[in-house]
Amino acid sequence: MKKIVVIGSGAVGSTFAYTVLVKGLANELVIIDINKDKAEGDALDLNHGLLLAQPMKIYAGDYPDCEEADIIVITAGAAQKPGETRLDLMQRNVSIYRQILSEVLKYNKRAIFLIATNPVDILTYITIKLTNLPREQIIGSGTLLDSSRFRYLISEKIKVDPRNIHGLIIGEHGDTELPIWSLLNISGINQDQIVEESRFYLSDEDMEDIYENTKNAAYQIIEKKGATYYAIALSLAKICETILGDQKSIIPVSVYLDDYKGINDVCLGIPSVVGRNGIEMILDIPLSNEEEQKLINSGKKLREFINQIEL
Ligand code: 2OP
Repeated sequence: MKKIVVIGSGAVGSTFAYTVLVKGLANELVIIDINKDKAEGDALDLNHGLLLAQPMKIYAGDYPDCEEADIIVITAGAAQKPGETRLDLMQRNVSIYRQILSEVLKYNKRAIFLIATNPVDILTYITIKLTNLPREQIIGSGTLLDSSRFRYLISEKIKVDPRNIHGLIIGEHGDTELPIWSLLNISGINQDQIVEESRFYLSDEDMEDIYENTKNAAYQIIEKKGATYYAIALSLAKICETILGDQKSIIPVSVYLDDYKGINDVCLGIPSVVGRNGIEMILDIPLSNEEEQKLINSGKKLREFINQIEL
């Protein structure tokens, strides 16, 4: 029996629920939202598609239904209000998380917690601190989505299936994220082996464009339609599939770092082996000096934000 609970049925939570149904990822899917009508409406709507998708028990629930869940996905949180700083938003979401987690912990301490609310690296960190659970059990969606955007943009440029493009974005899911060009390879062919005449060649300008468009993707989408939800829902589904199937896939998720290249006590997106028990291993990826410095700066920025949180 595989049971997933999603807390927060906004754009991201409900799209994730739909993705779980379409992919048949669970036997039981519980939707919890502070707005009960929204959760019930989503559950009904999804149930009406059961005949056409995968057999599954789907219902709107409450915190006691977290019992026996294998994965608890949290997408709940406030959205930024006009004039509100990121820090204010962060503080409000920390308060929301405090309430949610104290309820969830009454019923389940062994599930894997998958965090999607922004700022995701900070809320992943807060979840570790507030729950006191083993850090391996707490996973943030991290830079999987950014890496997917990155690989898509490269694939568009060189006209190759993104699955053959091995590229990574690491660090903060946000403005200080960084691309690891030194490890980029097209089906095993390293970037620095690609000559200018090759179809796979990327100029400095191409690389700059790809990175900027990756980093600013969310802003572009939010400007056009107010929110992003399809690709993040697929990212969350991929992480759930990896956990439930004990697939041990390497995914750039947000993880707790303790003396990682000198970075301490923050969560950042770093490629990690993910399995049934959560984070099995954080990869010590080889970085150029410049990349390492950028990663350290990404960590410093998050640390500064965390220092301002009232826990
Ligand atoms: C995204 O990157 C906003 O974090 C969200 O799509």
